[in-house]
Amino acid sequence: MTKTHLLTGHVLTFDGDPFVQPWADAVRVLEDSAVLIEDGRIAAVGKDALANGADAERHDYSGHLICPGFIDAHAHYPQTAIIASWGKRLIDWLNTYTFPEEMRFGDPAYAKDTANRYLDLLLDHGTTSVASFCTIHPTSVEALFEAAASRNMAVVAGKTCMDRNAPDGLRDSAQSAYDDSKALLEKWHGKGRARYAITPRFSPTSTEDQMAALGALWSEHPDALMQTHLSEQVDEIAWVRDLYPDTRDYLDTYEKHGLLGARGLYGHAIHLEEREIDRLRDVGAGVVHCPTSNTFIGSGLFDLMGLTARGIPAGLATDTGGGSSFSMLRSMAAAYEIAQLRGVAVHAAQLLWLATAGSARVLHRDEEIGSISPGLSADLCVLDLASTPAIAQRHARAKDIWDAVFPTIMMGDDRAVADVWIAGARRT
Ligand code: GUN
Ligand code: ZN
Repeated sequence: MTKTHLLTGHVLTFDGDPFVQPWADAVRVLEDSAVLIEDGRIAAVGKDALANGADAERHDYSGHLICPGFIDAHAHYPQTAIIASWGKRLIDWLNTYTFPEEMRFGDPAYAKDTANRYLDLLLDHGTTSVASFCTIHPTSVEALFEAAASRNMAVVAGKTCMDRNAPDGLRDSAQSAYDDSKALLEKWHGKGRARYAITPRFSPTSTEDQMAALGALWSEHPDALMQTHLSEQVDEIAWVRDLYPDTRDYLDTYEKHGLLGARGLYGHAIHLEEREIDRLRDVGAGVVHCPTSNTFIGSGLFDLMGLTARGIPAGLATDTGGGSSFSMLRSMAAAYEIAQLRGVAVHAAQLLWLATAGSARVLHRDEEIGSISPGLSADLCVLDLASTPAIAQRHARAKDIWDAVFPTIMMGDDRAVADVWIAGARRT
């Protein structure tokens, strides 16, 4: 028997990209409307859902906003326990807090425990999909994919590869990075909702041999994703220049080794040169904005409006534990604040699109997740728009639906997440 559900409330829908057309043409909230779910997928939206959903089990979310589940396009689940560690900038932060913690993931029990805790935290915050780095240990990848499969979550992950500038116990080699990544990719990519991303951590921690080996692996499996970091901090960029004297810029360290492509995800991408911007656009590669990380580690102000205006696909992410929150609402708020510092007010419609459809597109999963459209998986997040006394009193003054939504974006956290649905099943 088919299982059908009718969810009633305000429904967030997309008709286009609010960074290339006026936001009001691309994003709409259907007020007092509905979503019909059948066999895990969205069957109908709006009037069609109300017309066809008479026999479905009803879920009343009146006054709430039914959104696509949030998609965190760049995170490090092994850094869950060291989030909000004080006082360091990128390279010192990695050496002081991150690498010692990542060392612990050689223990499969520790990896499993963290992976489960992490995914529960994501769901608490309304995030139904993530692209996460793991550690150099294959067990850390197994742990995340297994934890995701047990929750039926669509997750992208990969073994983080490092064969230099990392401590003993946290380095692989060019060959073992290739072999381990290949075995994990062949086991997990396309298994259920799992997708594999080949994952060189960043240029400073890979030798040119390792970069070339991972580039070769990507050319053998072009349907896999590739995730890494790009131009996050000024000191890091200077270090990359020293380590790769024969390259034109940071992006070229990837390009030269077969690690630039449309299915590549380049986290941060703050301090880009003109050539890098042109190349990212020419190949259709995605950049991932990590705003709470960029302020927390002191990296800089990402040019969201400039890059999207030049045709570069962008997603949104927490970058935990460099980012200071698991919440994509908090990430939207920080993206708004960073854009304000650059002189632009990003609209709530654009922020919500970025955290859902925008992230889905850079993960190349927009035919499965990221929008409330017929045929897509029913991965949903239901937001209470008056979840705390502070938000409720501001919400009471709202002039229209967007004015009702914006305080939750700026001030909301996991208390705003009233319900989460994964592939048509309500999280219990
Ligand atoms: N660059 C290389 N590794 C990392 C990491 O773990 N976090 C952040 N924010 N930047 C990185
Ligand atoms: Zn990162």
